[in-house]
This record gives sequence, C-alpha cells and structure tokens, in this order.
Amino acid sequence: MSATLEATGLSKRFGAVAAVDGLDVALAPGEIRGLIGPNGSGKSTTMHLISGYLRPDAGTIRLNGQVLNRLAVHRRAALGLGRTFQTPAVFLQLSVLDNVLVGCHAVDRVGTRVGDLFFRPWASKRVFNSLLERSVSTLDSVGLGDRMADRAEDLSYGQQKLLGLAQALVSDPRVLLMDEPLAGLGSVEMDRVIAIVKDLRLKGGSVLFAEHNVPEVMQLCDRITVLNFGTRIAEGTPGEIQRHPEVLDAYLGREDREEVDAHDQ
Ligand SMILES: Nc1ncnc2c1ncn2[C@@H]1O[C@H](COP(=O)(O)OP(=O)(O)OP(=O)(O)O)[C@@H](O)[C@H]1O
Ligand SMILES: [Mg+2]
Repeated sequence: MSATLEATGLSKRFGAVAAVDGLDVALAPGEIRGLIGPNGSGKSTTMHLISGYLRPDAGTIRLNGQVLNRLAVHRRAALGLGRTFQTPAVFLQLSVLDNVLVGCHAVDRVGTRVGDLFFRPWASKRVFNSLLERSVSTLDSVGLGDRMADRAEDLSYGQQKLLGLAQALVSDPRVLLMDEPLAGLGSVEMDRVIAIVKDLRLKGGSVLFAEHNVPEVMQLCDRITVLNFGTRIAEGTPGEIQRHPEVLDAYLGREDREEVDAHDQ
C-alpha cells in the first residue's frame, strides 16, 4: 500500500549542526511509527519540518502524494496533518474549551465551514454549535471534560499536554505527529493517550510517535525509525530494533534492553 506520509532526503542545518541529515521516513495508512533516538538526534526537528514550522534545506514531504514543501502550517493541517508539541503550546489565559475551539481552524476539511462564521452569518449559529459539540466531545475523550471552564494555566503539566492533544484531535487528523506525548504524564494519563493512538489506528489514521518511554514505544508501534545525529541508523519492527547492535550502542544500551525484555514477558 502506498504511503500516506512520505519524507525523502529531509535535511535541516542550524549553523554547524546538521539537525536532520538526509532522512527518509514514510508512514503507511493505519501505521503507528515510532521515532526514537538520543536527545538532540533530530526527532523534534523532523516533526517541525513535516508540519511546516521549519523549512527544510533539502528533501521532499508528501501527504497522499501531494508535495507539502511550500504549504504553510494551516494548509497542511487542513489536508489532515495534525501535530502535538513536546512542550504543550496552549493558550494559558484562555479557557480549556476555548483552547480546543481555536484548534478547530482546520475543521473546514471535514465539512464544517469556518468561513461561514464571517461570510454567511445566518449559518454561524449552526457552525458554532457544531464546533462546540465537536470540541466538548474531544475534551471528553482526553479526560478533560470536567475542566472545560477552567483556564489552561490551572491545569497540571500533564493535563496541558492532553489539552494540546485535544487541539490536534478536534480536526480529525488522518496523520498525527506526536512529539513526546507521554513525557510528564501519570500512568492513567499515559494509558489514555495510548488508547487514543490505538483508536486512531483502528480508524485508518497514521501516527508518527517520538518518545523516550521505550517500553511503551515497543508495545505500541508497528515499526520504528531510529535517529542518531539527524540520520536514520535503523528501521524495523520493535523486535528488530531491540536487537539492533547500532541502536543498542547509540540509544537503548544494555539496561534498557533488559527492561524491555522484562516488559515483554
Ligand atoms: N532552533 C534551533 N536552533 C539551533 N539549533 C537547534 C534548533 N533546534 C534544534 N537544534 C539542534 O538540532 C539538534 C536536533 O534537535 P532536536 O530538538 O530535533 O532533537 P530531539 O531528538 O527532539 O531531542 P530531544 O529528545 O531532547 O527532544 C540538536 O543538536 C539541537 O540542539
Ligand atoms: Mg525533541
């Protein structure tokens, strides 16, 4: 089956640092792809390049065959590309619900015309109600249904990350880039995020999942791409990656490998 998302020869330098260096990565429909590697290996930069927050120095990014390179972030989102951030990028002064309503900017794609709010005022009530309904049910799905009226600044760090996830999910993305979605979460929150990712896969969506929580990555991901110094040093199933000598040297190490083995039993 052809790839939903495909990045080829992706490169980005910051001065002397080659943050991403000729990276090839592709996601099949319904695939959860892990993206792992040491700190500074280029995971977040890869996500910024694919989602449009950074321009690549070289390489091509395609979503369902369409080249994204010249498209702005919001155009990519409208095509079904969602993302979450390593550090939650929520509006602290806004309510939890308003934060998710803001995330509705890409909903156009699924039939609700945000433009109607401005150009067809008679339709605005219907549009608003539909966005509201969508936002409320998304907040319920991430476990923040009872915090809708609170300001985002009153949420814990983990809850702010879940709010960031709700902002991405409200547009019903077909491909979701998740940058360390489990970092800073408690075990109940982690289980919730993992369940949401599995649900996306069931619906045919694809996820690029950058994470340092190795046991969860091994359990959840269909395939894993491993980065080191911006280049791909390995790609394969969790079983293959856990035994890959270069990955063990660069990232997993013996201790983590034993932890993963214990987790599998
Ligand atoms: N805006 C920037 N300006 C300069 N250097 C940057 C910038 N963003 C990233 N880098 C550098 O690029 C490299 C890759 O960083 P990146 O944040 O992509 O790594 P990462 O794999 O996400 O790391 P972590 O696991 O710590 O989140 C690092 O050397 C980092 O210092
Ligand atoms: Mg990062």
